[in-house]
Parts: sequence; C-alpha cells; structure tokens
Amino acid sequence: MNCEEPALAIGAVARQFARVASNAFITGITGQDGSYLSEFLLEKGYHVHGLVRRASTDNLQRIRHLLDHERLTLHHGDLTDGGGLTRLVAELKPDEVYNLAAQSHVKISFDTPDYTTDVTAVGAVRLLEAIRSAGVKTRYYQASSSEMFGKVRETPQVETTPFHPRSPYACAKLFAHWITINFREAYGQFGCSGILFNHESPRRGETFVTRKVSMAVARIKLGLQDKLALGNLDAKRDWGYAKEYVEAMWLMLQQDEPDDFVIATGETHTVRELAQVAFDHVGLDWEQYTEVDPTYYRPAEVDMLLGDPGKAKRVLGWEPATKFEGLVRLMVDEDLKLLGS
Ligand code: NAP
Ligand code: GDD
Repeated sequence: MNCEEPALAIGAVARQFARVASNAFITGITGQDGSYLSEFLLEKGYHVHGLVRRASTDNLQRIRHLLDHERLTLHHGDLTDGGGLTRLVAELKPDEVYNLAAQSHVKISFDTPDYTTDVTAVGAVRLLEAIRSAGVKTRYYQASSSEMFGKVRETPQVETTPFHPRSPYACAKLFAHWITINFREAYGQFGCSGILFNHESPRRGETFVTRKVSMAVARIKLGLQDKLALGNLDAKRDWGYAKEYVEAMWLMLQQDEPDDFVIATGETHTVRELAQVAFDHVGLDWEQYTEVDPTYYRPAEVDMLLGDPGKAKRVLGWEPATKFEGLVRLMVDEDLKLLGS
C-alpha cells in the first residue's frame, strides 16, 4: 500500500478487492487493540479492511509494519459519518465487523461529552444500521467496557452485574452495549459485546496511566525526566495484556450463538502498586519520584474494578496468560528500548 497518497491508493485497492477468504472490517484499526487485532486476523488468513480517519498528523504508526500487506486495505471514514459507513459496509459486505473506534479516554469525555456520545454511542448504532440496511449476514463485535460497571454493585463483576456508569464515556459505552443487544433481539443480528477490563501494552496511548508510568520510569531511569505526576493513587484496576485480549474478540464471533462476555484477569491492583512495581523494576524508589497532582482527578471516579472471566474460560476456552507484574515489567522494558537504552 502506498501511504504517501492514501486517498488514491485506498480507494483503488478497495475496488480491486476480490473476496477469497473471510473479510473483516475494523473500526479503530489505528488504535492499540486495532493494531493487535489486525495482526491476529491477517495471520489467520483474513482480508482486513480498516477505517482510518483523516488526520493532519500521522495516525498510522501502530499499523505501519502492516501497510504493505496484500490482505490489508484501509478506507477513509469516521464513526460520525453515517453515509460513509453505509456505503462502505454495502461495498465490502464484511463477514465480521469489529467496532473498536471510540473517543476512549475517560477523563477527556468529561470535557467533550457531546463528541464522545456522538462517536462512542451514536457511532455504534450508525454501524449497526449500516449492516442492517446492507442486508448482509455480518457478525458484529462491540467493544464494551468494564467502565460500564462504574460504581460497582458487586465484586467481582460478571456479565450479570448491574451497570452504574460514572462518566460520559461510560454512559456512551452503555448505550452502544444495549443497542447491540437490541439489534440482536429485534432483528436477529449476530452481535456480541466484549466487556473488556483495562488492557495495556507497549502500544497503549501515553495518556493512560500504565503507559504514562512505564514511559516516565524509563525516562527517569535514563535521566530524561525528573518527576512523575499522577492523580488518584488509590484507584484499583484489573489490568491485562491487550495482545491476548484481541483473541477473545475473535473467539466471540466464532460461536454458534451471539453472547456477551467479561474479559479480565481476575486480579486488581492500585495505581500506587503500578508505580511501585514499575520503579522497582529499574531499581528506583517510586516515592522519591512520584507526586500527586489533582489536575488528574476525575469529577466522578471508578474506585475499583475486578472482573471474573469464568464464562469466557468455560465457553470460549479463553484465559489470560500475562498478569499484572509481568505486564508492567514488559511495558517498562519496551519503553527503555524505545528510548534507545
Ligand atoms: P485507542 O487506542 O484509543 O484507539 C481508538 C481508535 O478509535 C483509534 O484508532 C482512533 O483513531 C479511533 N477513533 C477515534 N475516534 C474516531 C472516529 N470519530 N471515527 C473513527 N475512528 C475513531 O483505544 P483501544 O485501547 O485500542 O480500545 C479499543 C476499543 O475498546 C475502544 O472502543 C475502547 O473504548 C474500548 N475499550 C478499551 C479498553 C482498554 O483498556 N484498552 C477496555 C475496554 C474497552 P485515531 O488513531 O485516528 O485516533
Ligand atoms: N490517565 C490517568 N492519568 N489516570 C490516572 C492518573 C494519571 O495521571 N493518575 C491516576 N489515574 C487513575 C485514574 O483516575 C483511573 O482511576 C485509573 O488511573 C486508570 O485510568 P486510565 O489509565 O486513564 O484508564 P481508565 O480505567 O479510566 O479507562 C481505560 O480502561 C477502560 C476499561 O475499564 C480506557 O482504556 C477506557 O477506554 C476503557 O474502557
């Protein structure tokens, strides 16, 4: 693929595409999960189509290594643009759609509630309607979130735990979750929601707390930064490895019946422990380098998330392999490498 002239190359390749194997359409292909899912599906022989939004800066970094793959085709579009989605789905007739695109930052959703709702909530129904109006037998995956549990009603959280969203982002995800179920019940669409707990990797965006910490630890170790400023150190999350979580998405779409699944590790840890493990890994004392900055507090916080992936294990045969400490160390090591150490 010629990424110097994306508009031309993208359209031309799309028209020449002949369906020989399963084809999948991924929104959010340029994000953390989209990049891992693309690798996974390409390895399985899929033709992967990805939705890419036009940006004035480079947003293809996470998939740059895949751009020359003969079974990858990118298409310009946006989840806020229903007409474009409808045309694309009608043209591609995808066997599987993975809706991973979202304004995915919880704190930023408090600053951009309308926009977050438009992309993250309404975007999902635009896509579901596009599939319905194309009249194709497409299997749909919705990227639901443990943030929907919010002010948790029970611990650990399972598929039947009541929801109590605590941010515009979580409210938007809840709409997308229920509209997926509604289209399943109303029109018989094969739609699955993966209720994924936090999952991280060296490809994680740098404003999410795990990557912010791993990057800061690497920079401090190399003398490039003095301090790390964090918000709520007491928040607890169930952190897993993104590369493993994308397999669960695919497994959901291979079942005979559509259903919803919690994907988690079954362990929860505080942000404080995250900092401690990361600094320990490079032989530094976290307390010396970390300070609390209330700028990073949220108007409403999700204090604790802990998922029970029992159903995913029973039905999908999926289990997480990488747990908290291994994940944190892996991320710090990769950031040290990235910075040239
Ligand atoms: P991410 O790295 O933030 O990626 C988000 C993707 O959505 C990017 O490709 C982004 O494109 C795209 N996007 C944003 N706005 C868009 C729009 N208006 N139209 C089209 N594309 C748009 O997120 P992630 O961590 O990979 O997560 C994938 C999905 O899972 C998201 O829906 C997220 O909310 C959900 N989720 C994530 C987690 C987690 O812990 N990672 C847990 C549960 C659920 P650009 O590259 O151009 O910005
Ligand atoms: N981002 C950030 N930055 N979070 C901080 C900081 C900081 O400096 N200091 C403390 N935290 C706390 C947040 O208050 C939150 O309780 C926790 O660290 C995790 O924050 P994030 O890494 O931003 O992730 P999140 O849990 O809010 O949301 C992520 O996981 C969701 C699944 O539960 C995102 O990936 C969402 O898209 C996803 O749905």
